[in-house]
Amino acid sequence: MLCVWWALSAAVLLCLQGARGLDNGLARTPPMGWLHWERFLCETNCVKNPTGCISEQLFMQMADVMVSNGWLKAGYKYICIDDCWLATQRDENDKLQADPTRFPGGIKKLADYVHARGLLLGIYQDVGKKTCAGYPGSQGFYELDAQTFADWGVDLLKFDGCYYENLEQLEDGYRHMSIALNQTGRNIVYSCEWPFYARRLSKVNYTEVAEYCNSWRNFDDIQDSWASVKTLIDFTAALQDQLVPAAGPGAWNDPDMLVIGNFGLSWDQEVTQMALWSIMAAPLLMSNDLRDINPRSKELLQNQEVIAINQDPLGAQGYRVLMVDGFELWEKPLAGGCLAVSVTNRHEIGGAQQFLLLRSMLWKGLACKNKCYLTQLLPTRYEYGTFNTTFFLQLSVNPSGTVLLRVE
Ligand SMILES: *[C@@H]1O[C@H](CO)[C@@H](O)[C@H](O)[C@H]1NC(C)=O
Ligand SMILES: *[C@@H]1O[C@H](CO)[C@@H](O)[C@H](O)[C@H]1NC(C)=O
Ligand SMILES: *[C@@H]1O[C@H](CO)[C@@H](O)[C@H](O)[C@H]1NC(C)=O
Repeated sequence: MLCVWWALSAAVLLCLQGARGLDNGLARTPPMGWLHWERFLCETNCVKNPTGCISEQLFMQMADVMVSNGWLKAGYKYICIDDCWLATQRDENDKLQADPTRFPGGIKKLADYVHARGLLLGIYQDVGKKTCAGYPGSQGFYELDAQTFADWGVDLLKFDGCYYENLEQLEDGYRHMSIALNQTGRNIVYSCEWPFYARRLSKVNYTEVAEYCNSWRNFDDIQDSWASVKTLIDFTAALQDQLVPAAGPGAWNDPDMLVIGNFGLSWDQEVTQMALWSIMAAPLLMSNDLRDINPRSKELLQNQEVIAINQDPLGAQGYRVLMVDGFELWEKPLAGGCLAVSVTNRHEIGGAQQFLLLRSMLWKGLACKNKCYLTQLLPTRYEYGTFNTTFFLQLSVNPSGTVLLRVE
């Protein structure tokens, strides 16, 4: 590789980061899949909305499409249920049960269906007395619920934080469930919202969160809008000194779902979300309707070179390097000393604007010290070729759009 000389600096960086994920061998790269929430919310009326209600049919259809339309092949393997799958009461033995009309086969049968297609199943619960939508929560039942999920064949748990009692109960609950999942002996990715809820009450110890969780949410739920996407990017950048060192194999900051393929983002904004979520080493959990998605969004979500940046084995989370004249520049160290670079045009007026990317801006001025090879991955693929120390690049970036580059 042209860029192995970087590997040493990358190793030093990782030592400083000291990133240690939850020791369950899972999520060594950011989890990829599909999660129902942003697109399908808590629709429980299957008479009024038979194709959009939270039911086993929705997940079975989505699982079929994930296999037949190349999503699984592209890396999206977790199909995840969010809130509103539960019956309103636990059963006579206090066990959780799915809503009997919307999930007549139960979760075990759905897990079998999903597994038979090579996919994995995610489920949702809450650390407090109730889930956010008011269904029975896990408080007081952590062992029982973890065992129930393991018995059903669940592969990922999204653990929300609504209706917690106080900071101590919230944090103990997240630790407790992590241990309970481990004790089932089943491989279950543990996706937390601990920092999102705890941040309002005290300073979050991200070292500790990373020891108990495979991924964690820090900020509000994403919505299907550019306003929401850019807020999540800005929150992440503002807290990057805390967030970036905590990330690594087995432990990821989660800026929430990909909303690409829905209604709220322009093409350039979809490119920005895909590029930045890859740079941020975010879990790639789409929330859209895979049964009906436009070909361009599908191609973007399945772009193997962009996914490779997200899934890079080094597991370093990228960070914002600078913000100047309405442009922002991010970089993400990659294995083998390579680098992913994104330039976003934050102007929301006018046409494409030019950004002059200089060698001195990248990798603290060390990039391309000998020579390097540059490929633009988004919005379209283009090979710029080999550069040396005199390297600079004039990039044209659309308003709210992003150019994503790979430097090797
Ligand atoms: C449980 O934790 C131990 C020690 O941290 C680890 O080695 C093991 O792989 C974990 N098992 C599961 C199923 O998560
Ligand atoms: C944060 O958590 C880690 C790991 O549990 C612990 O070693 C460290 O002392 C904690 N830091 C603070 C400031 O409490
Ligand atoms: C770098 O590349 C430029 C243009 O390709 C060339 O003119 C210059 O001599 C090269 N410099 C070095 C130090 O190799």
